[in-house]
Formats: sequence, structure tokens, C-alpha cells
Amino acid sequence: MNISSKTATVLYRKNGHSCIVFSDLVEGEGVQANQFLIIDESHTGIIDPGGDLTYTPLSIEISKHVNLQDLDYIFASHQDPDIIASLPRWMLHSDCKVVTPAQWSRFLPHLASSFVTDKLKHVMNERIIAVPDKGMKIPFGRSHIIALPAHFLHSVGNINFYDPVSKILFSGDMGASMVDENPEAPVEDFAAHIPLMEGFHQRYMTCNKACRLWAKMVSQLDVQMIIPQHGRPFIGRTMIAHFLKWIANLECGVDLLSESDYQIIE
Ligand SMILES: [Fe+2]
Ligand SMILES: [Fe+2]
Repeated sequence: MNISSKTATVLYRKNGHSCIVFSDLVEGEGVQANQFLIIDESHTGIIDPGGDLTYTPLSIEISKHVNLQDLDYIFASHQDPDIIASLPRWMLHSDCKVVTPAQWSRFLPHLASSFVTDKLKHVMNERIIAVPDKGMKIPFGRSHIIALPAHFLHSVGNINFYDPVSKILFSGDMGASMVDENPEAPVEDFAAHIPLMEGFHQRYMTCNKACRLWAKMVSQLDVQMIIPQHGRPFIGRTMIAHFLKWIANLECGVDLLSESDYQIIE
């Protein structure tokens, strides 16, 4: 991996196709988050751009690589503030389309009040690509991006984005780790990395069944890198296999609930 600046790490660059991650744009109290820029010749998409905290620094960083007005897509894995709260600004400053799970597409107008007037409503609707539960292929430059089902991991309507050119799986909150420094550094010692992921997945992921089915699906893909929206990437087949095995066996969410979690406080 080639570190090109403080904030931008080039994950892949070959033959006019690039994937770049920005991993230290969140300042203050917000949780660390990764934002992704994907370029194929003159085509551009941003994956999980984040909220107000990242809009300005991310737009500045991205302008170093592409012309913002030419943005083709915002890809949003789910509805959370750290994923898509900046939506109206990207929509206002470019003609981008917004790719998002169908389960959430009808809620997005709540984020973009300037598009809610009768006059502009059709504009909002025309610019949203609602991904059905089974996923879809989205044309992108000379290839496409595959939206994969990742429902209940953690959002009820959740998708991951897979780039078949770079073979990178942008896994959203799956595989997320809470790290204090160097979020761009790949995981090297899987056992030592587990404590940085475990609590997050136990609370934010719905249940083992969803994790297991997701891991089975991902194991059928040719993946060189899994990069989550928080924390460190998993690079190479061995590390990816470690992660898939771990997550497929993790009890989490409703698996861990008992009557004691639903008591009325005194
Ligand atoms: Fe989330
Ligand atoms: Fe997140």
C-alpha cells in the first residue's frame, strides 16, 4: 500500500482505476471513520462520505484528485449519520446519483429538505438508485460496482460495495475496529486485533445467523482486501480468511440478550 499524504492512502491504482481511502478527516468527538474515493478514468464515486464533520475536509481532499462537479455517484451502505448525513451537500454541488438500500431510500428526503418541495421532488427521486434486497450491479466507468446484501449487519437494510477491478470489498461497519492511531495500517496480528473489534460487533451486529450467511457469501468472491468504514483493513487471503472465520462464529446482538437486559430501572 502506498501512503501518499497524511489523509489519503491509495489502496489500488492501475490502468486508470484508483481506490483511495481518507482515514483521519474526523476531528473532535466523532468516531474515526474511513471515506472512499473510487475513480475509473473520468468517472468518480464516493463510498460512505459521512456527515457534517467530514464534508468540508473530504471535499477539499477529493478536489485534489477529481472535479467535484463531475461526481457520478454517492454510494451509501446504510442510513447512519457517519455514512450519509452530508447527502444534501453532495447533491447540491454535483449531479451525482445516490446508491442506497431500498429500505432507506424513502427516508433520505428527511436529510435533504431543499429537495422536498413539489418542484424538486422528482429531482430527488430521479437521483436515488434504490438497491433491492438481493443487491445489484451499478455501471461504473468501464466496469461496475456490485452492491451486495449485508442486511442486519448492522442496519436492517444494509449493503456492501465490491469493486471487481481492484477486488476490494468496502464492508461498511462489518470488520470495523476502534483504533486510537494509524487506522490506515493493515491488520497484521489477527488475535491482537480481535479486542479492537469484538465489543463493537457484539453490540452493533444483529445476530450470528446474519454474520454466518454474510461470511459464506463473501467467501465465494475473489477479494484481495476488506476495508471497513472504521479502523483497519484486512489485506490478503490469509487475513481475510481469519476475519471471515471469526465473524461467522461470533455470537452478537440478539444472541446475547436475556431477560436481564429488559428490566425497568428503579
Ligand atoms: Fe452504521
Ligand atoms: Fe459506522
